[in-house]
Amino acid sequence: MTRQETILVVDFGAQYAQLIARRVREAGVYSEIVSHHISADELASRQPRGIILSGGPKSVYAEHAPRLDPDVYALGVPIFGICYGAQLLAHELGGSVERTGRGEYGRAVLQVAEPSLLLADLPDTQDVWMSHFDAIATAPDGCSVTATTADSPVAAFEDTKRGLYGVQFHPEVAHTAHGQAIMEQFVREACNLAGTWTPASIAEESVAAIAAQVGEDGRAICGLSGGVDSSVAAALAHRALGDRLTCVFVDTGLLRKGEAEQVVETFGRNMGAELVHVDASDKFFERLRGVSDPEQKRSIIGELFIRTFEEAASKIRDTGNASVNTAGSTASDTGSTARDASSTASNASSAASGAEFLVQGTLYPDVIESGTGHAAKIKSHHNVGGLPEDLEFELVEPLVRLFKDEVRQVGKALGLPEEIVQRQPFPGPGLAVRVIGEVTPEAVALLQEADAIVREEIMAYSAASPDHEVWQYFAVLPDVRTVGVMGDERTYAHLIVIRAVTSEDAMTADWARLPPEVLATMSSRIINEVPQVNRVAYDITSKPPGTIEWE
Ligand code: XMP
Repeated sequence: MTRQETILVVDFGAQYAQLIARRVREAGVYSEIVSHHISADELASRQPRGIILSGGPKSVYAEHAPRLDPDVYALGVPIFGICYGAQLLAHELGGSVERTGRGEYGRAVLQVAEPSLLLADLPDTQDVWMSHFDAIATAPDGCSVTATTADSPVAAFEDTKRGLYGVQFHPEVAHTAHGQAIMEQFVREACNLAGTWTPASIAEESVAAIAAQVGEDGRAICGLSGGVDSSVAAALAHRALGDRLTCVFVDTGLLRKGEAEQVVETFGRNMGAELVHVDASDKFFERLRGVSDPEQKRSIIGELFIRTFEEAASKIRDTGNASVNTAGSTASDTGSTARDASSTASNASSAASGAEFLVQGTLYPDVIESGTGHAAKIKSHHNVGGLPEDLEFELVEPLVRLFKDEVRQVGKALGLPEEIVQRQPFPGPGLAVRVIGEVTPEAVALLQEADAIVREEIMAYSAASPDHEVWQYFAVLPDVRTVGVMGDERTYAHLIVIRAVTSEDAMTADWARLPPEVLATMSSRIINEVPQVNRVAYDITSKPPGTIEWE
């Protein structure tokens, strides 16, 4: 395989290093984040076609201000400094940076001073987004000043011969009107890259990489959770390995309405993947009986999930083939599923080899450590619920270079159904943390019905109003009954709470300002269609102080 065309983003502690990498990828070129501690030799060995220096919180005059190995400037690779990155170029390469005593934050009007490569074909004045205290006073030696703002005499500079570019503003944020066009100019014109990194090409490369890692005789297993990441990872591995991949789907009984069936349908029946469907819901409900403490619920589910997966995995490993048990032929507990699988294992040669690879849907943000930029440590948590490290499988992680939205695009390119690809985040312990109090099959069934209505209505609203993106939305069943009146009869029935939040990253969140008519439709549908519910409430708590989930 030819080496991937790459633009490296050197991280100086920016809030936006990830965003810069994403913008480059949107321009069709693979991009990764590296630490500013990287040496010129190390950097050169990665053979980048362009280097972007990110912003950062420090002043170039600060005591321990982050710098770059000076030999990087002589590598002959085009360099684009953004904010702090641009100031650093000025400071190190013969220009100057001044402490003006006042910063420039938020919207500013950029005035083009002379024709340039970076700002080619853009309007002479345009809105840009600024966030800096010091300002570049003179551009690096040999660079011309191509744009200014009221507070930045050098808002953009460049020297196309040496391949040096800098902007004081942030082209990577949406508030900079033509930001993406500027990023594309750097990628296409300065780095001379065509931009062929597309979801289809990513899929193709991943499939080839999985095939190479697993080899011709190797076998792999993949835990399916019903979520986007494990589904896309499994679909890629299936393309690469065919029947040498066995997917294990541990059905806890705590998924949303229709999700378990959809996993079986998609992977078993449509894709023809070897699927061990372990219907362990009875076991989960049994262990959860009488338990209402949230942490206890989480630990019971986490542990039982791992044990169930391990049991299925070790049977597959021992026999080398659990694959004969195709979708639909579910067993009521782990033991019998795996036993079915092993007793029907018919292929002697694959039985000898065993499954020695574990496919996991780890994503790039899980492994970026800002400031080091290296995928040094794989987090123990992942999307099927934290599998133990001593499972003795070699990991296959086809999504480890991708952001979530790219995973969705790859999923689409692979033909996975929209319902899976667009699925919202879902907690590992599932609906158990949305049934407050004891988790019974009846409570989960009731919640599933109400939740399906919430999802349907908000999805329809989001589709009709794409500007009002709701990050996550679901129903909660508190351990509460209230009095009501229906058809002249007194009722004493359940309360459903609707939770819908906007968020960037789930670290903070705000309750979604849904239109009253959407709330009204959900309320009347839930009361009319879900038996035993006589009241609906809307949760208007932000995070903090609340969390997104109720438990
Ligand atoms: P909270 O409730 O902490 O949730 O505001 C933040 C985000 O994380 C999801 N969440 C989980 N995801 N395992 C997961 O994989 C879990 O145990 C878990 N708990 C919460 C939650 O849905 C929200 O998106």
